[in-house]
Amino acid sequence: MANLYKTILVTGAAKRLGRAIALDFAARGWQILLHYRSSEAEAIATKEECLSLGARHVELLQADLTQSNERQVLLGDVKKLGILRMDAVVLPAAVFRKTDLGNVVEGDFDFHYNANVKANFFVIQGLLKFCTIDNIVLFGDWSATRPYAGYLPYCMSKAAVLCMTKALALELAPKTRVNCISPGTVLPPDGASPEKIYGIEQASPLKRIGSPDDIVAGVRFLVEENQFSTGSEIVIDGGRMIQNSDLY
Ligand SMILES: NC(=O)c1ccc[n+]([C@@H]2O[C@H](COP(=O)([O-])OP(=O)(O)OC[C@H]3O[C@@H](n4cnc5c(N)ncnc54)[C@H](OP(=O)(O)O)[C@@H]3O)[C@@H](O)[C@H]2O)c1
Repeated sequence: MANLYKTILVTGAAKRLGRAIALDFAARGWQILLHYRSSEAEAIATKEECLSLGARHVELLQADLTQSNERQVLLGDVKKLGILRMDAVVLPAAVFRKTDLGNVVEGDFDFHYNANVKANFFVIQGLLKFCTIDNIVLFGDWSATRPYAGYLPYCMSKAAVLCMTKALALELAPKTRVNCISPGTVLPPDGASPEKIYGIEQASPLKRIGSPDDIVAGVRFLVEENQFSTGSEIVIDGGRMIQNSDLY
């Protein structure tokens, strides 16, 4: 698997948004480095779907990206494949856990920062030691700018992702473009009640949640359709970020 075809690495691609991104690039004939952590069966199914849609090649890469030794194995695997240039590295893998303010403990910061911030940083840093990257797409959240109650460590970790986007964009220009997509709710967490989803819809100016296709379109825009953005944030949130608050 060398660099004969356009190549994308997608983290957390067994399920949900990562899977939707992998399938979209597969359908346009890319070769896919499909990362997963624990969802092995789903990763294998996604690989099969990618191939049936037209992916040139799909390589499964398993790693808990918060673990330095597992990251090194993943980086070594990419190197062994002979990948010295990637068209895109897209990093949606993340964690999200409710943490009521009074009960936040240090481990809640470690949990969110290790997965959402440090893992992404060290994957990028490690890849750049042997590989040229054209585009990096990180994942923020509208709540990094307008944090909601009960998720402070998560919202702060996503604010750090925005900062990382801008810092890396400056450091890596002009070779590599680095941008961030900040979704609103497109796929609610597993187990979210219909009432909860209705509440989110009503809180959005567009009165609905988004779909994975809305996010996939943003990734496609940044990677393939536009060559002049770097250090930017694309907010795809149905307008939640601009919704007026009742509080003054
Ligand atoms: N879904 C939404 O509506 C929404 C809204 C706002 C922002 N976002 C952001 O958009 C991105 C994608 O959202 P999503 O809902 O698809 O994400 P998700 O389902 O919460 O997580 C995606 C994947 O991340 C992987 N992951 C978690 N911890 C990991 C670790 N330590 N090492 C390696 N992989 C790890 C998991 O892989 P395994 O299953 O293989 O373990 C998981 O399937 C995230 O950054 C999220 O914060 C999403």
